[in-house]
Amino acid sequence: MLPSGTEGPRLFLLLLGFLSSSCLWVEGRSRKPNVVLILTDDQDVSLGGMTPLKKTKALIADHGMTFSNAYVASALCCPSRSSILTGRYPHNHHVLNNTIEGNCSSKAWQKTQEPYTFPALLYSSGYQTFFAGKYLNQYGSEEAGGINHVPPGWSYWYALEKNSKYYNYTLSENGQPKPHGQNYSQDYLTDVLANVSLDFLNYKSNHEPFFMMIATPAPHSPWTAAPQYEKAFLNASAPRGSNFNVHGKDKHWLIRQAKSPMSNSSIQYLDNAFRKRWQTLLSVDDLVEKLLKQLEARGELDNTFVFFTSDNGYHTGQFSLPIDKRQLYEFDIKVPLLVRGPGIKPNQITKSLVANIDLGPTILDIAGYDLNKTQMDGMSFLPIMTNNTNVTWRTDILVEYQGEGSNTSDPTCPTLGPGVSQCFPDCVCEDSYNNTYACVRTIAAAYDLQYCEFDDAEVFVEVYNITADPNQLTNIAKTIDKEILEQMNHRLMMLQSCSGPSCHTPGVFDPRYRFDPRLMFMDQGQQSHTLSRKTLK
Ligand SMILES: *[C@@H]1O[C@H](CO)[C@@H](O)[C@H](O)[C@H]1NC(C)=O
Ligand SMILES: *[C@@H]1O[C@H](CO)[C@@H](O)[C@H](O)[C@H]1NC(C)=O
Ligand SMILES: *[C@@H]1O[C@H](CO)[C@@H](O)[C@H](O)[C@H]1NC(C)=O
Ligand SMILES: *[C@@H]1O[C@H](CO)[C@@H](O)[C@H](O)[C@H]1NC(C)=O
Ligand SMILES: *[C@@H]1O[C@H](CO)[C@@H](O)[C@H](O)[C@H]1NC(C)=O
Ligand SMILES: *[C@@H]1O[C@H](CO)[C@@H](O)[C@H](O)[C@H]1NC(C)=O
Ligand SMILES: *[C@@H]1O[C@H](CO)[C@@H](O)[C@H](O)[C@H]1NC(C)=O
Ligand SMILES: *[C@@H]1O[C@H](CO)[C@@H](O)[C@H](O)[C@H]1NC(C)=O
Ligand SMILES: *[C@@H]1O[C@H](CO)[C@@H](O)[C@H](O)[C@H]1NC(C)=O
Ligand SMILES: *[C@@H]1O[C@H](CO)[C@@H](O)[C@H](O)[C@H]1NC(C)=O
Ligand SMILES: *[C@@H]1O[C@H](CO)[C@@H](O)[C@H](O)[C@H]1NC(C)=O
Ligand SMILES: *[C@@H]1O[C@H](CO)[C@@H](O)[C@H](O)[C@H]1NC(C)=O
Repeated sequence: MLPSGTEGPRLFLLLLGFLSSSCLWVEGRSRKPNVVLILTDDQDVSLGGMTPLKKTKALIADHGMTFSNAYVASALCCPSRSSILTGRYPHNHHVLNNTIEGNCSSKAWQKTQEPYTFPALLYSSGYQTFFAGKYLNQYGSEEAGGINHVPPGWSYWYALEKNSKYYNYTLSENGQPKPHGQNYSQDYLTDVLANVSLDFLNYKSNHEPFFMMIATPAPHSPWTAAPQYEKAFLNASAPRGSNFNVHGKDKHWLIRQAKSPMSNSSIQYLDNAFRKRWQTLLSVDDLVEKLLKQLEARGELDNTFVFFTSDNGYHTGQFSLPIDKRQLYEFDIKVPLLVRGPGIKPNQITKSLVANIDLGPTILDIAGYDLNKTQMDGMSFLPIMTNNTNVTWRTDILVEYQGEGSNTSDPTCPTLGPGVSQCFPDCVCEDSYNNTYACVRTIAAAYDLQYCEFDDAEVFVEVYNITADPNQLTNIAKTIDKEILEQMNHRLMMLQSCSGPSCHTPGVFDPRYRFDPRLMFMDQGQQSHTLSRKTLK
């Protein structure tokens, strides 16, 4: 179970330490359900990202519910993870990008957001809380207080310093640095996370319910597979869907500048990335299997909700962008979401529109926490999972993203000038400061629609009818009914300034929708927006 002879007793003592100090739960009280949240890094669902996870599907999806419309509020690691933890949209948690200046794990985040994350609230209501894996991209950096900083509300903390890696990294073990090298049987991070998770299940208190969050590096770059999986999927390649290697000529500036068709070296690069991503996911599949077997062996499985999801999607060649996330399209904003647990019937698929801001409210709801006492923008989807027949649900969510790019030219991409970043092979730029947008993603009875506005020199608008055009080939901004366009514009402004319950008001295509012109004035009075306003012509 434990990696080495010295590791075992140390970890055990560490666990004993926190258990003795946190045994507040009164023995004999009926146990609330446990919750496990498994979070992968950069795993798409649109391009087959669940394909390697056969055991995960069998152990979670086949025993519970699959959400076919699960989205993230922002398709970038740190803003997305911050949304998961706080249950809030980026305009309310203020984490804009992966840097300290953008509030990723910053002192301001630690002061204003971190004490109110859903795990901290679970802890305050008697849960044992366990974290293992990647937290926020700047976690552990000096400006963020270093590895000694253990966020409030975690009984057991086993967090990766900074961004995803598979070998040669440092973990914070309850605030103490633990360096790891590159010996597979001691250091491969996905396996280390599996092992410490099993240790937790073996040594935790049996008197309190528990929450575990396990955040894997896979399938994020550098895509280092476990040795036994290095030969898997050797002839797999990125799917050649109708938007693969296609010039997005009616799309915003960043997409239009991509070289299309892509060079052979870009295609080789992205196909290789695609294969390696899948290889790394095989170790995640093993982790899920070990974890669920252990929950079962310890008699906890029937009283445990298990969530499996990702922080954002990914693309490999769509609209001739070689590899990355950050875009508004389905492949980047849609994620896998599978949940099993008490009261959830097996083998269900729901099309209900859910977002990563809903995970916190849902898990707090499971724990019986009064959501009225929180400031979360998301909604509990527990009623959808346990009673699928009569739930009035939302019809839209907000997606918002602030593009990265500095004032100086990226040396790998000199031709495009300052303001662009993330240049991958052959100088195709994947982000720019003006790749800043906000979208309303609507899924209602008769509408499956995306409406987006850019904060760029063109005040660009993109609209997709996903029913007719799931691969988002045709921007219908110029042809769609002007009244719909105007209503979507208003709705977007409203959502960009929403907070808590106002984020769940009925959307444009909800029968309960009422257009309220006062929202326009309310919006103009607020200064917190990153986007400029589109004046419709
Ligand atoms: C995980 O635990 C197993 C079983 O004890 C052990 O064989 C393996 O080396 C460990 N792996 C890591 C990376 O610690
Ligand atoms: C960082 O977060 C703090 C606290 O929420 C906020 O006041 C500040 O404006 C944020 N910084 C940015 C760049 O948004
Ligand atoms: C780990 O670090 C060692 C020593 O610096 C280096 O030789 C090795 O290539 C690194 N391995 C990986 C997988 O990064
Ligand atoms: C890697 O770790 C294992 C188990 O601890 C050990 O038996 C092996 O000798 C190590 N390999 C190297 C190259 O250090
Ligand atoms: C991949 O390889 C297997 C076995 O070598 C073969 O059966 C299969 O047709 C190949 N698939 C593709 C897409 O080339
Ligand atoms: C690129 O690949 C295609 C198909 O494999 C091949 O026909 C073409 O000659 C290659 N071009 C170059 C410049 O290598
Ligand atoms: C939460 O607030 C709503 C709306 O005000 C109310 O209907 C509900 O009863 C409240 N729930 C609890 C548990 O107080
Ligand atoms: C499902 O919801 C309906 C209507 O809200 C309610 O009457 C029923 O008791 C619920 N069933 C379960 C199993 O919770
Ligand atoms: C659904 O709930 C509403 C309001 O609670 C109720 O009037 C209606 O009869 C329910 N329908 C079903 C099918 O349970
Ligand atoms: C991240 O956001 C902050 C605040 O807006 C900004 O100062 C910084 O330049 C951004 N970082 C990048 C890499 O774009
Ligand atoms: C976006 O920024 C780039 C780089 O500064 C610039 O060349 C381009 O014209 C801008 N596009 C729009 C639509 O703002
Ligand atoms: C979207 O496409 C569907 C199927 O072609 C069509 O029935 C519907 O009217 C379209 N919706 C809009 C808003 O254009």
